[in-house]
Amino acid sequence: MPLIVDKGLGNTIAADTTLSFIDGAKGVLEYVGYDIDSLARNSTFEETTWLLWNGRLPTARELAAFKVELQREYAVDARMLDVVRSIPRTAAPMDALRTLVSALGHFDLEADDSSVAANKRKSTRLVAKTATLVALFDRARKGKSFVASDATLSLAGNFLWMLTGARPTASMERALDVCLVLHADHGLNASTFAARVTISTQSDMYSAATTAVGTLKGPLHGGANQEVMEMLLEIGDFAKVDAYIADKLARKERIMGFGHRVYKAYDPRATYLKTFAKQVAADTGNLPLYEMTRRIEEIVLAQPNIIEKGIFPNVDFYSATTYYSLGLDLDLFTCMFAASRMSGWTGHCIEQLAANKLIRPHADYTGPHGLTYQPIGQRIDGETSSSSPSVKTAMSVLA
Ligand code: ACO
Repeated sequence: MPLIVDKGLGNTIAADTTLSFIDGAKGVLEYVGYDIDSLARNSTFEETTWLLWNGRLPTARELAAFKVELQREYAVDARMLDVVRSIPRTAAPMDALRTLVSALGHFDLEADDSSVAANKRKSTRLVAKTATLVALFDRARKGKSFVASDATLSLAGNFLWMLTGARPTASMERALDVCLVLHADHGLNASTFAARVTISTQSDMYSAATTAVGTLKGPLHGGANQEVMEMLLEIGDFAKVDAYIADKLARKERIMGFGHRVYKAYDPRATYLKTFAKQVAADTGNLPLYEMTRRIEEIVLAQPNIIEKGIFPNVDFYSATTYYSLGLDLDLFTCMFAASRMSGWTGHCIEQLAANKLIRPHADYTGPHGLTYQPIGQRIDGETSSSSPSVKTAMSVLA
């Protein structure tokens, strides 16, 4: 087959999946055929994870059994606590999480068992423990003692408990749970693709999950929700919103939390979150913050051509205020994205292995050819090894 150039792979289908479907033009996201809005309203993170991994909704008995499996895995090996403590307090939580997800593999006796059954058990461990690790690291960096996991709570509830040492209210637990449902999977996004590339080499689940965390960290992928919150705090006051946004637009700067590479219609994950975020903000005394986001949305959507360009609020615009209302530090926002997406990453890895083909695209070599090797003694500092124009061009590109 002739090779085609597709930098960024935006026009390439690199995998088959039955986990999620996106129609960016219409603003549709489905997990295994279920509209994301109905899942956000009716499902839970546990049920959604089971759905993604099994291709159908669980029965009550299956869901109850899965919850118990997850709850049994909230706690980490005692030696992991030493690993958590050994990370510098100044480390960014996403960097710490990358290290900690990798370290989990050392304490899993099944780490290198690549049978489907073992990979499913490891997926359960990875999903159960990722939120735990975020809570543990946050407490360690603040010099606080660890809070033991509570295997009677949902994953969202247990995370808030381990993070704060206080029982979350039902509405706080539900708010986090909704965010976890909304972020659980999203087609072949960059971190999911990275996980599939790693597992396609027949590496292991922990390596694939570590790759994915490292990829999600980037501001072009998982970091936007933190930037939304930074913008809101910078504005600081409802009365300053209009001038701030007008100034940004006049300087042709981007408004964080708007636009999406895939969605050119309203991000379907933001629809329910928008109404939900209001309730959470009201419950936690953060309504003024929510009112600021509504005003920003009004101003941006009233701009000429903005709807034609397909610029609408994305999921990060409303998840940011939700996480903030729950009391999470800004630099934990992307970690919550990771804790949720772990269910998608692991599901994709198992799917990749079921019909595996090493993912190995080509690079378009743009360097020189046919150079003569010069012994090191004949090379002169400050001079290229050849006067060939192609080397000079390549060197000037590299400089
Ligand atoms: N605010 C104002 N204008 C915008 C924004 C924005 N947030 N995003 C895009 N535009 C405008 C661009 O200026 C451009 O206008 P022009 O055609 O007049 O030059 C047009 O829309 C198209 O922009 P592109 O950069 O081509 O769109 P792309 O699809 O590549 O960008 C992206 C998508 C990167 C998400 C962009 O919208 C953006 O930077 N948004 C802000 C960051 C953000 O919220 N990211 C979170 C994404 S959701 C997620 O990752 C879970």
